[in-house]
This record gives sequence, C-alpha cells and structure tokens, in this order.
Amino acid sequence: VTGIVGALERPVVVAPMAGGASTPDLVVAAADAGALGFLAAGYKTAAQVEAQVADVRARTSGPFGVNLFVPGAPTRFRDELSAYVRELAPEAAVRGVDVGDPVWDDDDWAAKTDLLVDLCPDVASFTFGRPQPTLVTALHRRGTVVMVTVTDVAEAEQAISSGADVLCAQGIQAGAHRGSFSDDDRTDAGMTTLDLVAALRRRTGLPVVAAGGIALPGDVAAALGAGADAVQAGTAFLRSDESGASELHKQALVDSGYTGTALTRAFTGRRARGLVNRFMEHHPDAPRAYPEIHHLTRPLRSAAVHQGDPHGVNLWAGTGYRHARTGPAAAIVEWLCSAGT
Ligand SMILES: Cc1cc2nc3c(=O)[nH]c(=O)nc-3n(C[C@H](O)[C@H](O)[C@H](O)COP(=O)(O)O)c2cc1C
Repeated sequence: VTGIVGALERPVVVAPMAGGASTPDLVVAAADAGALGFLAAGYKTAAQVEAQVADVRARTSGPFGVNLFVPGAPTRFRDELSAYVRELAPEAAVRGVDVGDPVWDDDDWAAKTDLLVDLCPDVASFTFGRPQPTLVTALHRRGTVVMVTVTDVAEAEQAISSGADVLCAQGIQAGAHRGSFSDDDRTDAGMTTLDLVAALRRRTGLPVVAAGGIALPGDVAAALGAGADAVQAGTAFLRSDESGASELHKQALVDSGYTGTALTRAFTGRRARGLVNRFMEHHPDAPRAYPEIHHLTRPLRSAAVHQGDPHGVNLWAGTGYRHARTGPAAAIVEWLCSAGT
C-alpha cells in the first residue's frame, strides 16, 4: 500500500463524527498516537471548519482529514413529510418547543469544498455520495488524498471513476448515518463490513479502510486479515476523553436498559444506526427526507438534551457499542491494535 493509509504507524482512522463528538482534541490525539483523525464538517459553517483546522494545525504536525456530506436532492415524499410534521407537533408541544422548519439544504457544500481546496488537509473524505471529478482533480492538485465512503461494490465503481484514492468500506454494523449514495432501503443489500472489504479487495488495488462494528482488537485483526489496509472506528471513541459527545450519549452507551441498535429515519430522514429508544420506537415510518427531518426534529432533540431525556435524542451507535471504553483516545488506539495480525 502506498500513500497516507499505508504510512500510518497505527492502521486506525478515528472516524469523523458530526454533531459534536469529533473535536480538534480528538483529531490531535489521533495524530499523536500515529493514527489518522478527522474533523467532521457536517452541520458546521465553513468558518467553523476553518477555525477547527487552524486549531488542529497549531497543535500537531501530524496528518489529519476533513469529512464532508455530499448533498442529495429535496425529498420526493412531500405528503409523507407533511404527515410527519403533524405527527411530531404534539410531542414538540409537550417539550415546550415548536417543530423546526423542514427545509432542504446542501450543508453549505460550495463554501466547504472551496475551503478544502484552499486549506488542503492531508485527506478529504466524503459520505452520502461521491465528489465530482473536477473537485477531485482540484484536491489532487493541492496534494489532498480523496477518500470516499461506499457501502457496496457499485458505489465503489462510481467512486473509483471519480478519482478516489482510498475507499472507506462501511458495513451495515456502522454507527450513525449509512453512507450509501442513495438512501434507499429497497436497493441496499446491507453488506457486512468484512464481506464488503473482501468484495472490494477482489475488485481493486486501492487502499480499503474498514468501517462498521470495529469495537475490539480482534475486529481490527479480522478486518486487516480480510484485506483492509486500516480500520475506521467511530463508536469505539465516543466515550474517550477527547470526544465531544454529550454526557447523555456517553451514559446511554453503558446503560443496560438499552437492548440494542437499529436503523431509523425518525431523527433525520436518512437511515442511521442508534440505540433503540422511545423516539425511535414511536416513529417507525418517518419518510426519506434528509436533511428536512434533521431540521424538523432539531428543536425537539435540543429540548430533550436540555431536559436530560435520552429517549428524545439520537443516540448514534454501531453494533459494537457495548465495548466502547473511557480514557484517552491514544490508549483506545493502542488497545484496538493489540491483537496483532
Ligand atoms: C456519532 C457518530 C457520528 C458520525 N458522523 C459521521 C460523519 O459526520 N461523517 C461520516 O462520514 N461518518 C460519520 N459517522 C460514521 C463513521 O464514519 C463510521 O462509518 C462508523 O462510526 C463506523 O462504525 P462504528 O461506529 O461501529 O465504529 C459517524 C458515526 C458516529 C458513531
């Protein structure tokens, strides 16, 4: 393997985690541990991302990446979205807030991609789709490595044809949003991380990073054994010292009252894996409408955090959440690598 993934001292990527968990502290800790950390640009303004990049660069000379959400299109399920707005209104009233405005937006894509080309982080990673070839070319000219999250071989083919340098193979076990290019459960085969890694390995010589359910040292060894060049773990770092996840979220991960995880559209309109809580159970039929539903539910989720109620909050978690440890991120990197290969 050539390039940045092959050069890592520890074959671990600390996943980008939008919504607060990813912090400059976590990225610096990853770099200092010989791993690769990512700033999560999702939901932030370009100015906020720029400030975080400056913060990381002031504190480490190690490599790091920035992750972006590739925008989709406004929902085709307008009637279902309106019905969901009506469904949530009483719950918002109980929490003492109004539902949010279910608008579509592109998460400030143009400003953020301009910024990436300008700031040239070591790696730019993309999820929910592939970057246009012109953007990839612009990033390459600046020396930035391009990584694209894929969930099946067809998406990998598209990513490769866009010029991707690294594939992040995200299996169905992964915490938070599924990175599929089209958020359609009817066409999603739901491949597991190891099956996907093996399938990509047969198809391409590009570096493959395995993501989803990497929770124990043995999972790292198994992923590398299946042909991955590194792993990308998110949930395993949620409880780390440097994680910015809320206390509510960190506590829920060790609360035996939760019986497991599931995929849901209830919080954001895009399928994402989290601990099964009451909000998820009460809204099993939320339509495909991202990020409209993200904006719709935001005031409810904020109020629930404020009220200390984990049952009204998205508690993103991968299937291996029960193994998530506390302590410095560097120690978690070390531990994950302790099984050898
Ligand atoms: C709280 C949380 C937030 C996440 N946010 C992002 C994100 O902003 N961008 C992204 O590409 N992946 C995001 N992911 C997914 C990770 O990149 C990765 O695929 C996933 O964490 C791997 O599965 P694991 O959680 O079982 O380790 C997030 C995961 C979690 C747990």
